[in-house]
Amino acid sequence: MKRLPYLLAALLLAALPARALSPYGRECISLGGQWNYIIDPMDTGIYKYQMQLQKQHKRYFADRHFYQDKSTLIEYDFDHSPTLQVPGDWNSQAEKLYYYEGSVWYRRKVDFHPVAGKRWFLYFGAVNYKCMVGLNNTILGTHKGGFTPFCFDVTDVLKEGENSLVVWVNNTRGASEVPTVNFDWWNYGGITRDVLLISVPEVYIRDWRLRFDGSEVAIDVFLDGGKKPVTVEIPELGINKKACACKDGKASFRFKVSAELWSPGNPRLYDISISSGEDRITDRVGFRTIRVEGDRILLNGKPVFLKGVAVHDETISVNPGRCRNMEDARALLETAKDLGCNFLRLAHYPHSEQMVRLAEEMGFMLWEEIPCYWNIDWSSEETYANAENQLLEMIGRDANRAATIIWSVANETPRTPERLAFLGRLIAKARETDPTRLVSAAIQKDKPDFYHPVIDDELNRLTDLVSFNQYIGWYDGKPADCDSVVWTVPPGKPVVISEFGGGALYGNHGSDSELFTEEYLELLYRKNIGMMEKIPGLSGICPWCLKDFRSPKRPLPGIQDDFNRKGLVDEQGRRKQAFGVVKEYYASR
Ligand code: GCU
Repeated sequence: MKRLPYLLAALLLAALPARALSPYGRECISLGGQWNYIIDPMDTGIYKYQMQLQKQHKRYFADRHFYQDKSTLIEYDFDHSPTLQVPGDWNSQAEKLYYYEGSVWYRRKVDFHPVAGKRWFLYFGAVNYKCMVGLNNTILGTHKGGFTPFCFDVTDVLKEGENSLVVWVNNTRGASEVPTVNFDWWNYGGITRDVLLISVPEVYIRDWRLRFDGSEVAIDVFLDGGKKPVTVEIPELGINKKACACKDGKASFRFKVSAELWSPGNPRLYDISISSGEDRITDRVGFRTIRVEGDRILLNGKPVFLKGVAVHDETISVNPGRCRNMEDARALLETAKDLGCNFLRLAHYPHSEQMVRLAEEMGFMLWEEIPCYWNIDWSSEETYANAENQLLEMIGRDANRAATIIWSVANETPRTPERLAFLGRLIAKARETDPTRLVSAAIQKDKPDFYHPVIDDELNRLTDLVSFNQYIGWYDGKPADCDSVVWTVPPGKPVVISEFGGGALYGNHGSDSELFTEEYLELLYRKNIGMMEKIPGLSGICPWCLKDFRSPKRPLPGIQDDFNRKGLVDEQGRRKQAFGVVKEYYASR
């Protein structure tokens, strides 16, 4: 990766925004729509031609395109530049951006009319991979990490009338980034999730956290701007409680409830409102417990088998891209529901909040993950800080979601002391931040003995589950070999197969010994299911993957064409024969 000059790198870290205020249950103005953009492969908007930093980024953050002074040399003019849809990745929107990795400058004009006594936050659902945000020529700050929300307080920067919002986005991969330079999905760049203006009163509810232990509810509410009484109401449960945030801006509630418990079979949610002074937010919450007992996973105290599938955040479409809205999420979730799933592994990075909330309504338990994927820079403190920040932003966003049962800190990472130390810190941080959920990581099987694979990764001592990816019948041997493979797994913990499967091109039919035919994939699934059923402590499986997805590592003409073909459905949602094998198995479970 090109090292940004120290000043800019410091800016990228120093100006990290406040943890995102949630837009849900609040009055928001959407800034989605067509934004002008300028592609900037050489970061001309950041560097002078001698490669020194632009002083105030005048070239891009200036408003001068508003007064068209013909005598001034202008070479970068948003008003006469093309547009991109926001939210949305740029790769799937313009042919010339298909593979693009680099900087793009976005600009949107914002008409604004201030309201007395209100504060305003500019919220981004996600920007991949790093960005710098400017409003009316003022740099608000930066963010790094492509899949979690962030926001800036813009109360004192917004002005009456027309405002100029400019966002520099760069999706260049980097050896010390998270993820690193090598990963098996498309590096979709851009403002990929919602951009909103959130208004709150001077004293407002910054955050709140709900925990449930099976009978007692604990709710902590955090105010900013003052210390006032807080009211929590859950009308259907007859809850109307008051507490004061008068000491340190935090109001704590503890009360018993006898609620219908949330589960995939009964995804019961209750309306909740939290108010303080002039602020009031509403949400819907579910009550459930999750824990492990020996080699079983207990949901609401009863053993549960995770009938899962792994999902990438990518639309079902002939021209897929990042999911942009509830409809995109619903198309994926309805496919998973038809498969008979009660569990989703949202791989390999936090998916949208729309996806998580809709999954909760539809009754899916969720594995959520940060992209410590393959071999990241385990020795870099900056890389660790980035990974931890992404973990905290993911937990901060979804900690009140009943659907989320597992936080995962990694996928297929090498067994080195540096990796164990790095992931050990992340696991400890996850438990400290949220002691109510399970913590895991998808490991990979070691090679030594094909027919007697042993899972003995030291990471398993730190996680609640033994989760591993295996590809018997695809990368390792043939489907029929499954009949002779005997797994050895650590005793006393639930086992979740976090990935298995193989590739097939939808509609490609032939012998079940011919790679990439649907018949081969069907046989692979039948054989794998038989093999996995014999694993002691098996508590869940996740076919890799629900849907064929774009990857630059999968070019095989006529078969892959830039798609990883391990989906149970193809990129258009067309079901392969293997879909029926999994559906039948889940129905029988
Ligand atoms: C790995 C990896 C996935 C990848 C898959 C594959 O297990 O975790 O991200 O897509 O294998 O090779 O298809």
